[in-house]
Amino acid sequence: MSVYRIAANQHRTTCILDVKTKNPTVKTFTFKDKYCAKAEPGQFLMLWIPGVDEIPLSILDARKDGEVTVAVKKVGEATEALHSKKVGEVIGMRGPFGNSFTIKNGRILMVGGGTGIAPLLFLTKKLASKTTKLVFVMGAKTKEELMFIDELEELCSKGNVVATTEDGSYGIKCLATAPLERLLAKERFDVIYTCGPEQMMRKVFDLVEKHRIALEASLERLMRCAIGLCGSCAVGRYRVCRDGPVFTASQLREVKREFGISKRDFNGKRIPLE
Ligand SMILES: Cc1cc2nc3c(=O)[nH]c(=O)nc-3n(C[C@H](O)[C@H](O)[C@H](O)COP(=O)(O)OP(=O)(O)OC[C@H]3O[C@@H](n4cnc5c(N)ncnc54)[C@H](O)[C@@H]3O)c2cc1C
Ligand code: FES
Repeated sequence: MSVYRIAANQHRTTCILDVKTKNPTVKTFTFKDKYCAKAEPGQFLMLWIPGVDEIPLSILDARKDGEVTVAVKKVGEATEALHSKKVGEVIGMRGPFGNSFTIKNGRILMVGGGTGIAPLLFLTKKLASKTTKLVFVMGAKTKEELMFIDELEELCSKGNVVATTEDGSYGIKCLATAPLERLLAKERFDVIYTCGPEQMMRKVFDLVEKHRIALEASLERLMRCAIGLCGSCAVGRYRVCRDGPVFTASQLREVKREFGISKRDFNGKRIPLE
């Protein structure tokens, strides 16, 4: 492990500088951290909520002034405790960890679902000025759960953000993968980046296999050490924390029997993905 990686794995503490409510279940938290401020889109950090737990979170933004932002969905004990934190309170972190999306130019298609939109927004900020075309397809269950539409509409040219909701409360009533099928049937894209629920990403992968396009997908697994030691994030021969979280189509082909189908629980037992 490089000296930089060893240093990045040291626990640090910092104060929350800003909290924003994005929707009823998601808040963004901004803080200063010199290591995570150098993160690239796709990388994640381990955020420590004192007295509660340490959880993996994708980096939503990392800026030259040292500020880092994460978007957090309230789903259980640790995320609930974090949601109750205010500006000035102390949190801890390690990281950044994992690989990042490859920055490519040309015709780009992004497919994001739920909090998976966060790392793709970070990537869009880096790519928007370099691409020939950038289309962002985003999906959520309801309008309330759709995030970062304004930011994405500012970054992508007019008409290139396609929003879908399962209940039809905003955009097109369908899964995010439906407009994707239509887009791929009529246009050529050089690369697809995706992050979100794994069943969604599996459908994207199956379509990509049919259309033979480059793919980068960011996976989530249970994470504890985040440095490739404990094995809780294993998918096939890969450790998602160290070899991912971003995987290419050829890597996903190797783990086809697990990708979008199963994961390991905290006891290492393989369980179906919800
Ligand atoms: C690489 C990566 C990036 C992530 N990025 C984000 C993000 O940007 N925003 C966001 O809101 N969430 C993100 N998550 C998911 C987030 O880590 C979990 O929602 C969080 O750990 C739940 O903790 P909890 O105590 O609130 O809930 P719990 O009640 O403990 O768990 C609820 C569910 O969250 C998942 N989970 C719990 N602990 C972990 C863990 N240590 N590692 C992975 N998953 C866990 C499990 O599926 C569990 O069923 C990411 C996960 C990974 C692996
Ligand atoms: S979280 Fe321990 S090996 Fe990946």
